[in-house]
Amino acid sequence: MLKWPTVTDLASPDPLDDGVVRVRPWRDTDLSCVEQASRDPRIPQGTTVPARYTLEAGLAYIARQHARRTSGEGVSMAIAEQHTDQAVGHVNLMLRPQDGVAGIGYWIVPAARRRGIASRAIALTTAWGLNVGGFARVEAWVEPDNHGSRRVLEINGYLLEGRLRSFLTFGTRRADVLVYSRLATDAAR
Ligand SMILES: CC(C)(COP(=O)(O)OP(=O)(O)OC[C@H]1O[C@@H](n2cnc3c(N)ncnc32)[C@H](O)[C@@H]1OP(=O)(O)O)[C@@H](O)C(=O)NCCC(=O)NCCS
Repeated sequence: MLKWPTVTDLASPDPLDDGVVRVRPWRDTDLSCVEQASRDPRIPQGTTVPARYTLEAGLAYIARQHARRTSGEGVSMAIAEQHTDQAVGHVNLMLRPQDGVAGIGYWIVPAARRRGIASRAIALTTAWGLNVGGFARVEAWVEPDNHGSRRVLEINGYLLEGRLRSFLTFGTRRADVLVYSRLATDAAR
């Protein structure tokens, strides 16, 4: 019988590293990254990054990332550039209710965008989820006009499966999402 991962199997991975980008646990010293993210128009809408940054709100955000594993929701890591180890973004794998399925979420602070950092972090995290984490499927929900996010997924071999209409809410706004997925059985990249 197949055994799909539960959160107790999802001990935070050791830092994942491709020589340029590192995916590692959040630290309390990563507050500047949370502060930069809070000033972005899109990130606080779709995440629990505080829209109004304070020291307490920043520390609470970091504490929530660790709590996701202990509460059984998933694994949540910081994205850092390897040469500085400074956090510039976030990536998580959250357990969906379906066996063996994880949802991937990510963001990069504006100052670090368009340098391939998200693409590398999603490559590392997807490979970990499908190979080590034991998931059968990693999926992403993306707003249709989020061309950067769609490109990051396409670069990483995620397939576009379809559009879910009026699927998510951002405040009072309802949004369609595109569903992308990568399976453990897809060809290796
Ligand atoms: C989406 C996001 C994570 C991309 O991060 P990034 O580190 O800039 O992405 P990369 O540098 O790895 O770019 C990957 C590809 O996407 C393209 N791309 C990135 N941002 C883009 C944009 N705004 N519009 C069009 N293409 C874009 C890049 O040119 C690159 O493509 P190429 O290799 O064919 O040239 C970042 O813009 C972000 O954090 N946005 C706000 C939060 C968000 O939308 N998260 C995802 C929710 S589903």
